[in-house]
Amino acid sequence: MILEKMEKALNDQINAEFFSAYLYLSMAAYFEDQNLSGCAHWMELQYNEESEHAMKIYKYINDRGGRVQLNVIETPQAQWKSPLTAFEAAYKHEQYITGRINDLMKLALELNDFTTQSFLQWYLNEQVEEEANVDEIVQSFHMMGNDKRAMFMLDRELKQRQAGSGSGD
Ligand code: FEO
Repeated sequence: MILEKMEKALNDQINAEFFSAYLYLSMAAYFEDQNLSGCAHWMELQYNEESEHAMKIYKYINDRGGRVQLNVIETPQAQWKSPLTAFEAAYKHEQYITGRINDLMKLALELNDFTTQSFLQWYLNEQVEEEANVDEIVQSFHMMGNDKRAMFMLDRELKQRQAGSGSGD
């Protein structure tokens, strides 16, 4: 049985992960509008990953005999100044999510909830990858500056991203 305090915090994280999914789908729509189909594809896969992150917690709460409680998902931003600012926002968002996972781990430690500590380890590792993947794209944007041809190449590279991987490699 899961403690109420932990259950509540994990339910909040389900909401945060679904919001992440929603945010990245909104970014995908923005990139479609900018005719950057590779960036849009990358964000669509990110949307799928975030939904999976939410569902992993959903299943965990159920497996521990807890009660899943779904809440309203906040409206995501729809417009960005440039493709670079959208990816910068994604990077900032991932740092925020890492902070949330750290807080969940702190709570699990406080409550001596060893099972949840073990469960959260996967998220801690995942966040290292999540931040690194987006940061790599942000750095590529910085390097190419206003070079349209480089933008075209990067967009094509991001289109190669496969489900389950973070980059276009
Ligand atoms: Fe679910 Fe991108 O962290």
